[in-house]
Amino acid sequence: KANEKESMYLVSEFARDYFHKTLLKTDEGQAIGLSYFKERGFTTATIEKFQLGYSPDSWDALTKEALGKGYQLEFLEKTGLTIVKAEEEKSFDRFKGRVMFPIQSMSGRVLGFGGRILTNDKKAAKYLNSPESEIYHKSKVLYGIYHAKQAIAKLDNCYLVEGYTDVIQFNQSGIENVVASSGTALTADQIRLVSRLTSNMTVLFDGDAAGLRASLRGIDLILEAGMNVKVCTFPDGEDPDSFAKSHSFEELKAYLQDNAKDFIQFKASLLIKEANNDPIKKAEMIRDMVNSISKIADRIKREIYIQECSRIMDISEEVLYNTLAQIGKKEL
Ligand code: CTP
Ligand code: MN
Ligand code: MN
Ligand code: MN
Ligand code: MN
Repeated sequence: KANEKESMYLVSEFARDYFHKTLLKTDEGQAIGLSYFKERGFTTATIEKFQLGYSPDSWDALTKEALGKGYQLEFLEKTGLTIVKAEEEKSFDRFKGRVMFPIQSMSGRVLGFGGRILTNDKKAAKYLNSPESEIYHKSKVLYGIYHAKQAIAKLDNCYLVEGYTDVIQFNQSGIENVVASSGTALTADQIRLVSRLTSNMTVLFDGDAAGLRASLRGIDLILEAGMNVKVCTFPDGEDPDSFAKSHSFEELKAYLQDNAKDFIQFKASLLIKEANNDPIKKAEMIRDMVNSISKIADRIKREIYIQECSRIMDISEEVLYNTLAQIGKKEL
């Protein structure tokens, strides 16, 4: 099993190098992939740092090259780089004509890839990702963790974003303590990777309805892990990538500093807008906030948040403690 995994890492690292070379050294890669990255504002240094690549628009270019170099079909298939059609006795590349983002483990090994189409065609799936495999478990990986780990520990905070390009653009802007959940619902395993390095997380999801929903889901999970959570939203239609691209480092830093709210304030400001003074909705929202507070194991912190909630919502602490007790009973 150990040998099998190592063989899968090796073929993945071969593919990473192949896609990277194809991007930089072939006419097709330069004309299509490199110009796409340049248009997005990625510098050569950034392309090198994240080992970005391009998969040629061909049926089996990678597979052929890998087999020619002595890599075994078995591991190409197990990593999902090659799709084997047994009936036809043929093998095809999974990634064709896409810009490639290698996904690295904490220690820098290549686990899999995300491949983006070059158009903004709403009908086609924008990203194609490596399938689950012996080495790639989507729910246990955070994109960017390899480049972020030192900065997370040093700055004692981790920015959590949704996408590959958010991580990359932040790095290019000079903010390195950033990782992406890559569009999947955040998991406890992903949070654990970060909680070894810091107990502070700032959620920076996209400025759209999906991003908002994902932030709300993420908050409780992060609290359950015993971490402190802040949330910073972006203007409608913007994501961390687009925002960082159109602002200077100073502006970006100031924006993050001024707009990162503690989770309780974030929830309150969001819910107050929705409740619109309707007493029934207000009651629901207080229960919602207390529910988040109930995830906090630390009693002192819980007490501080109850006080905060009482102040913001203008409701007695006693009622909040009663609600907290009710939630506690339901969960037993
Ligand atoms: N994602 C995915 N498959 C999709 C759409 C999204 O795997 N069809 C994942 C990717 O990891 C993506 C993340 O979810 O980076 C966030 O999605 P989205 O915000 O739609 O994409 P962006 O990261 O903003 O990508 P881009 O700027 O290239 O459009
Ligand atoms: Mn290089
Ligand atoms: Mn999004
Ligand atoms: Mn996005
Ligand atoms: Mn984007």
